[in-house]
Amino acid sequence: MIEIQTLSASDAAFALAMEIREEVFVAEQSVPQELERDEYDDTALHFLSLIDGEPVATARVILKDEGRTAKIGRVAVRKAHRGKGLGKELLDAIERDRALTGVHRFVLDAQIHALPFYESLGYVAEGPEFQDAGIRHRHMTKLSGTKFF
Ligand code: COA
Repeated sequence: MIEIQTLSASDAAFALAMEIREEVFVAEQSVPQELERDEYDDTALHFLSLIDGEPVATARVILKDEGRTAKIGRVAVRKAHRGKGLGKELLDAIERDRALTGVHRFVLDAQIHALPFYESLGYVAEGPEFQDAGIRHRHMTKLSGTKFF
């Protein structure tokens, strides 16, 4: 059974989300540890997907523009669980979350390899490619309520 929890940094389960990020971004993608964790973690809304109680995916959301813009980041599905729809389910849950009902648009900085993933969810790339933590990225946007079929 899949469960998606909404957490803040003070919740005990926050450590489980950080373990997934450490495994995916630091160990797998070689992002320096000091860049992986940042000051936004303290105030962000964190999401954690569990299958039968096992933590499998995470993401965080930072609210901007008085809650009208939500920046999604640190989207990570553990390697053994990729390609099964968990990333899509997590993003869908974020867009539907009651704490984010005032959001007009979702934005994110996508790693280039993940562009097709976000495009399949209705996100549109804009602006030039840029480097962050040594990884190529593009900015992407989706207006709230935009369904993609
Ligand atoms: N290339 C092309 N399409 C992809 C893709 C890829 N690398 N990854 C997923 N997709 C597509 C799937 O085919 C699926 O399309 P469909 O609905 O038409 O079948 C859709 O995106 C949803 O895929 P899903 O199974 O939910 O993706 P996932 O659970 O594997 O999660 C990531 C995708 C990117 C989050 C996951 O691969 C991951 O955690 N990667 C490592 C960390 C990372 O790079 N995070 C992104 C930072 S911007």
